Amino acid sequence: MPDLLSVYDFDKREADAYLSEASKMEVLLRKGKPLRTLSGKIVANLFFESSTRTNFSFQAAAARLGATPLAFYSDKSSAQKGETYADTIQMMDGYADCLVIRHPSPGMPQLAAEIANHPVINAGDGGNQHPTQALIDIYTIKKLKGKIDGLNVTLMGDLKHARAMRSLLHLLAMYGANATLCSPALLAMGPEVVSRAKKEFGASIKETTKPSFAKCDILYVCRVQRERFADPDEALRMASEFRLSMGSLRAAPKSMAVLHPLPKIDELPKEFDSDARAKYFEQAKNGVPVRMAILKRCVLGK
Ligand code: ASP
Ligand code: CP
Repeated sequence: MPDLLSVYDFDKREADAYLSEASKMEVLLRKGKPLRTLSGKIVANLFFESSTRTNFSFQAAAARLGATPLAFYSDKSSAQKGETYADTIQMMDGYADCLVIRHPSPGMPQLAAEIANHPVINAGDGGNQHPTQALIDIYTIKKLKGKIDGLNVTLMGDLKHARAMRSLLHLLAMYGANATLCSPALLAMGPEVVSRAKKEFGASIKETTKPSFAKCDILYVCRVQRERFADPDEALRMASEFRLSMGSLRAAPKSMAVLHPLPKIDELPKEFDSDARAKYFEQAKNGVPVRMAILKRCVLGK
């Protein structure tokens, strides 16, 4: 059965298949009919790093498909007694049909995939990848705008450490969006991610330190990833560099949708939550149908 470890693992045809399956799942969810697609299956959610949306939307997605979700939290597990990661994965692989793994170190879901017989889904590994979030983002953009090709999308925030941004840039390039990367110079996106997107898809990607929303269709903001900084004071200093004011958001186009992987801290004013352009809670809700599509494909292979 297929793993889902990185956005580099699938092509546009497979990404399209996830999106269309997610649309079907959304319709079925709206009808409220219980599904038996994964009846009798067990999905283990292994979280070695904190999470609200990814953990609980995967649990909700499993439950909505008729599977039983298991919740593993490393701080309440025998990892605290010194059990190794490899042994933990081997144990959980014996209990479940699919492993959803979040870990603070890059590459740990990949390592799990080498150990486990069942499919492994990367739910975020350090500052590396967050492929299921990127699929939710693409799904949300397509739902809001009817297309992705040719849209002007600005990614703003801590582009150096945010795995959600790294994964999303690749999918935006795959779908033909024009990306603008806006961050303080010290928090710029890894050049290897940018050059890969350009080389593979001929993507238009601009980099800037000054936000300008004049022709922006989608503004995608993320927080400073404090937990990835060696110096917490530096994280605080950086956070103050890209807080958006209500004034600048008011001046931005009325058609500009604002997305955020969440949690948001203070990069957007609280007042903006009630603006019709704030779509991040809707985006988070899309996590359930998109993760239903992902679980279905990973567990059943179709
Ligand atoms: N929740 C997302 C992640 O885990 C974004 C963030 O934490 O800022 O990558
Ligand atoms: N978007 C996201 O990954 O949220 P959590 O960190 O709460 O899972």
